[in-house]
Amino acid sequence: MTRARILGTGSYLPEKVVTNHDIEKLVDTSDNWIRERTGIYERRVVAESQVCGDLALVAAQRALESAGVSGSDIDLVIVATCTPDNIFPSTASVLQSRLDIQPGAPSFDVSAACSGFIYALGIADKFVRSGAAKRPLVVGSETMTRILDWDDRGTCVLFGDGAGAVVLEASENEDGIISSHLHSDGSFESLLYVPWGPGRGFSALDDKSGYIRMRGNEVFKVAVNTLTRIVEESLESAQVDKSEIDWLIPHQANIRIIQATAKKLELPMDRVVVTVGEHGNTSAASVPIALDTAVKDGRIKRGELLLMEAFGGGFTWGSALVRY
Ligand code: COA
Repeated sequence: MTRARILGTGSYLPEKVVTNHDIEKLVDTSDNWIRERTGIYERRVVAESQVCGDLALVAAQRALESAGVSGSDIDLVIVATCTPDNIFPSTASVLQSRLDIQPGAPSFDVSAACSGFIYALGIADKFVRSGAAKRPLVVGSETMTRILDWDDRGTCVLFGDGAGAVVLEASENEDGIISSHLHSDGSFESLLYVPWGPGRGFSALDDKSGYIRMRGNEVFKVAVNTLTRIVEESLESAQVDKSEIDWLIPHQANIRIIQATAKKLELPMDRVVVTVGEHGNTSAASVPIALDTAVKDGRIKRGELLLMEAFGGGFTWGSALVRY
């Protein structure tokens, strides 16, 4: 059976570091409060001249390098983002040209908020399984700080910018994406949303409508319950026991949500990749950044079983079980 295996990974975080102490100067909060409630102590913020595609480019170049392939070897480009450079062309199309990826290869963006990368990975896997692609590039890239209200302490402490990427390749072996599971429930729109988009026209844009709004406490509860269910679904569908999971690579939104999922899997925290402290919630970029971090520092080894999961605005949620 053909599967998509992970050939290489890459990531990029912008240089500028904003600590909790920096945010204490903007809103009524404290380093202690943010650390205790979220596990975050700093995040990266894009330079004024950078856009989502710039972050995606570096992460993708690093993934291509680690895969030992070049842009011309790629036959599908998917970028997961909710903060694209342009309305169109898609960030993926811009990336296609900048990386000299085969002209004619399909390229498109996926919008599923923080679950975007898992969605993009699942879609790429289906392209590979159907024979429609052999070597996809899948990127999660976000400039979340551009849609943050820096006067709102309930959201501005949580998010950061970054990008992560994987190069996939069709494989006939046992390794690769064993199963992926994608879900959404649009009835939760009012808990986490940005109330403006270009289709509303610029006259509908006031100075706050382009920013994230969230009922954090309610989001937290649904996230914990939903992620517990998706973990069960992934294990059941692949007939895998939780004891077989080597690494949990969760969406990096909040250390307490991550701990709750690890507890469900009875997985000690040293088998969970946690990067939320250094970069906060980078939305669609968070899972591939965490994956790349643990691959590059040697924790994740070939042959190990990985469970990736994410939850985000929509609500959307998903998981992927991968033999690395
Ligand atoms: N600093 C200090 N106090 C803050 C604060 C901040 N940055 N943000 C909120 N508070 C206050 C609230 O105003 C509230 O005060 P009150 O009791 O006087 O009304 C109090 O802290 C408790 O607020 P609450 O929202 O219940 O806190 P919480 O324990 O739920 O933590 C979050 C808030 C946002 C950290 C938490 O709900 C969370 O992480 N939710 C999930 C968010 C998320 O992951 N979203 C993305 C999903 S992909």
